Amino acid sequence: KNNILYDFVIFGATGDLATKKLLPTIYMLEKKKKLKKNKKIIAIARTNFNTIQYISKIYENFKKNIKNFKNDIIWNNFKKKIYYCSLDIQNIDNFIQLKNILKFKNQLIIYYFCVMPSLYVFICKGLKKFQFNYHNARIIIEKPIGTSYEDYKNIKNILLKSFKKDQIYRIDHYLGKNSILNILPLRFSNIFFFNNWCSQFIDHIQITISEKIGIENRWNYFDKIGQIKDMLQNHLLHILCLIAIEPPKSLNFLEIKKEKINILKNLQIITDLNSISIGQYTKNIISEKKIKSYLEENNLKKNSFTETFIALKVFINTPRWKNVPFYLRTGKRLSKKCTKIVIFYKNIYNFSHFSNINENFNNCLTIYLQPKSKIFMNFYFKNKENNFFNNLKKNQITFYNEKKIYNNNFLSDYEKLFLEIIHGKKDLFVTSKEIEFSWKWIDPIIQLYTQNYNILEYYPAGSWGPTSSEILLKKDQKQWNNET
Ligand code: BG6
Repeated sequence: KNNILYDFVIFGATGDLATKKLLPTIYMLEKKKKLKKNKKIIAIARTNFNTIQYISKIYENFKKNIKNFKNDIIWNNFKKKIYYCSLDIQNIDNFIQLKNILKFKNQLIIYYFCVMPSLYVFICKGLKKFQFNYHNARIIIEKPIGTSYEDYKNIKNILLKSFKKDQIYRIDHYLGKNSILNILPLRFSNIFFFNNWCSQFIDHIQITISEKIGIENRWNYFDKIGQIKDMLQNHLLHILCLIAIEPPKSLNFLEIKKEKINILKNLQIITDLNSISIGQYTKNIISEKKIKSYLEENNLKKNSFTETFIALKVFINTPRWKNVPFYLRTGKRLSKKCTKIVIFYKNIYNFSHFSNINENFNNCLTIYLQPKSKIFMNFYFKNKENNFFNNLKKNQITFYNEKKIYNNNFLSDYEKLFLEIIHGKKDLFVTSKEIEFSWKWIDPIIQLYTQNYNILEYYPAGSWGPTSSEILLKKDQKQWNNET
């Protein structure tokens, strides 16, 4: 499998994604000896660098971002593969410059589009004009693809004018995370969960993707996009789908996708402002460190309604999830970095005699996806110190605990997905249909917000988001589980 020859071509090579994620991924794969036949890495951007200048920028970046990075033989071999090409992609005649660099034989070419989707059109036209849309080429595009359903459809048509369907890989790195891949085995290989994963037993479900970081110098990208399109439309919806799908007919990825699409189609459209909470972070001092407000990230040059937080209450109109609310939230500059799913089971009908405990009496399953990957359940047992059944004791039973997540042999999400691309496997990528249906559900949320900017609420950096997010659950006599 490692005998394939391939070149990587990265458009937008000076950007954040390329320098912080893609090049480190290729480097790490080389280090782990997974990329034996990789020939060249062609980095394309507008900045007027030469290859040596670009390599020194990458070197500085690796020193900062890769643990135990050394100026050793691995780095030296890696840097020899890098070619920088300064090119303004908006003038498609410029693509002729690639003629000298890309000498196609029969090898695979992987084009990575690390630019805003509005620029895809130039890349596609430029590559086509000089016949670089070679049948052995694969193109990779990153979420969010487009800004709405209509916009996505246009982008799709543009791509299909230069490339065939099977050449297009839509990446969402959450689909490469081990802990996320673990959701289906948890649900479908354990009868203990298989049978009671439904409205008869489950009271409600909370899904949180909270980040401690802010927008990390990505104002130009983030201010146009916002948290709804950056995280909810893709990462969070994938997790929701995996939690909610019906058992697929087989483990063939197309069957799984079919079930995911069925969930997306059945997500109840949000039309009510009472079902959402939208926020933007303000400055704060945390452990004596000043944290900037969102607007200060751009030196207050511009006022902005771009949201950095969203929480919402969602229903899925399938028999399995009748009347079960799903509370979703994701935000930047929150208290902790944590991605988790919490399943709250119902109280036991006709037996409410163990009523002494202060908290809600129910089992609760927590699936931590990151930073640690851990699954545990709360159970109640008799307290040894009591002779009677009052004052039961809560016990946490851990089913799964993946401690060494950063161990050397373990592939990161991006590393795993890169190898899948090289081997031409699409199981871990997003289908066009999935994207279409997720935009169809997201569009009304964005519309609702853009017509009601006054609902934007500010929250201090380092908190758990705006008060309206707490109220969203309080109205239903519930509260967010913030245990980490
Ligand atoms: C990216 C978003 O897709 O995911 C970022 O663009 C976000 O804004 C990141 O920080 C989070 O990824 P992870 O793997 O750290 O959860």
